[in-house]
Amino acid sequence: MGLAKLPDNFYDKIKPRLYQRVSRELRSANYVLDIGCGNCELAKYLSQTNRQKVIGIDISSESFPDKEKINKDWPLVKCVRRSASKLNFVQSEIIDAVVMFWSLHEMNVPKVVLQQVYSVLKPGGKVLIVEFPNKSLAQKLWNEKYFSKEQLMKYLDDVGFEHIQARLIENKQILWVSGYSCAENKNKSEQVKVKMYET
Ligand SMILES: C[S@@+](CC[C@H](N)C(=O)[O-])C[C@H]1O[C@@H](n2cnc3c(N)ncnc32)[C@H](O)[C@@H]1O
Repeated sequence: MGLAKLPDNFYDKIKPRLYQRVSRELRSANYVLDIGCGNCELAKYLSQTNRQKVIGIDISSESFPDKEKINKDWPLVKCVRRSASKLNFVQSEIIDAVVMFWSLHEMNVPKVVLQQVYSVLKPGGKVLIVEFPNKSLAQKLWNEKYFSKEQLMKYLDDVGFEHIQARLIENKQILWVSGYSCAENKNKSEQVKVKMYET
């Protein structure tokens, strides 16, 4: 389907499907970081569907749900106001999966952010980037700067990710990119727990 035929609410319509897909793809993770989490909708979804512990990180806490409500209704979700370019408050090599849903394009230093992501991932941990590709409906609607498939793959490769895969899905309006941190160069114990969840 050509761009002209896609409705303006196309992205709202496909979002539930994308969430399901993220949930399936990250289902084996125990600890997940959702970077650029906005209102923590995806974090809440993952905690409910997969019973995962999800730390949502965003540079702005404006859209965060009420803290008491989160603690009561989504006890596995933590929302943290921090910049993705400095993730040293998260223990290194401890996170099973990182998801960045429609957020990397907003970050001024995407490569620094990906380096930070790499450092917090466990050996063999997964990064999943869901983005608007360049020349997409999103570009027409919001006129922001988006990555090409090749650009994102190169960033991941430069940082050291392995088994990088990138596809255009949903009428080529979504860029779905994943990679794994190198299992051999990292040797932290699988048993280690994230401090934020320790009581
Ligand atoms: C388009 S919104 C997407 C929000 C959410 N992932 C969603 O799908 O609804 C991008 C988010 O990235 C956040 N963001 C931008 N730069 C950031 C940074 N350096 N560190 C953390 N979050 C950042 C913004 O505050 C915003 O909430």
